[in-house]
Amino acid sequence: MRAERMDRLVLDGRSAPEIYLETERLILRWLTEDDEADLFELDSDPAVVRYLTGGVPHTRKEIASSILPRYLSACNPERGLGFFAAIERVSGDLIGWFHLRRYPYEPSEVELGYRLRQSAWGRGVATEGALALIDHGFSRLGVSKIVADTLAANVRSRRVMEKLGMTLESEFVCEPREFPGWSEQDRRGVKYALLAKDYDRSRHGG
Ligand SMILES: CC(C)(COP(=O)(O)OP(=O)(O)OC[C@H]1O[C@@H](n2cnc3c(N)ncnc32)[C@H](O)[C@@H]1OP(=O)(O)O)[C@@H](O)C(=O)NCCC(=O)NCCS
Repeated sequence: MRAERMDRLVLDGRSAPEIYLETERLILRWLTEDDEADLFELDSDPAVVRYLTGGVPHTRKEIASSILPRYLSACNPERGLGFFAAIERVSGDLIGWFHLRRYPYEPSEVELGYRLRQSAWGRGVATEGALALIDHGFSRLGVSKIVADTLAANVRSRRVMEKLGMTLESEFVCEPREFPGWSEQDRRGVKYALLAKDYDRSRHGG
């Protein structure tokens, strides 16, 4: 989708299915069924899925039959929660996605997530999109707690959480079936959290 077309679309995620919010370099819009090919390309990079599947890329069939439908079922425009395609403003390319969804292990909490193409890493893009989402979650959606989890070894992701002002809340160990052949040490996970009352709006420039 061309950036100029997207600029004409409605901006408020609560009432519009298209653009959810915008940042300096990104347009976050609701994920759709048409994103299957881009999701497949994203997940076909072993480095991208290293801490998610142990580095085993998802097949096109898995994306189409289970992964994309699961992402779409988490989309609830009325609550403002869901999966959002990250479109790089300058190129118009889909470079990954973010989510704000009900945390599966504690539905009263909202979980932040992100996944970007390797070519987009290391430029602060994840932090930029995530910061806009947590600001939106606290300021507009009335969310009281936002959490994020990852494997302890995923230092890039942890660094993003820290830059967002999130703090370590708990640790856990993933099931062996999730990471076949990985040691218990390598399956250690970390959960970070940020409460609305502790959120410093100045980080978002407000
Ligand atoms: C996690 C992810 C979204 C981060 O994206 P990103 O755009 O590179 O993130 P940012 O540039 O905003 O920040 C990355 C931070 O990690 C730091 N970092 C990068 N490589 C690092 C390394 N090997 N060790 C320690 N820190 C590292 C960067 O320096 C940066 O911190 P800084 O701004 O203080 O310098 C991206 O790596 C990704 O999509 N990974 C695959 C999917 C994934 O693991 N998602 C998270 C699952 S919970």
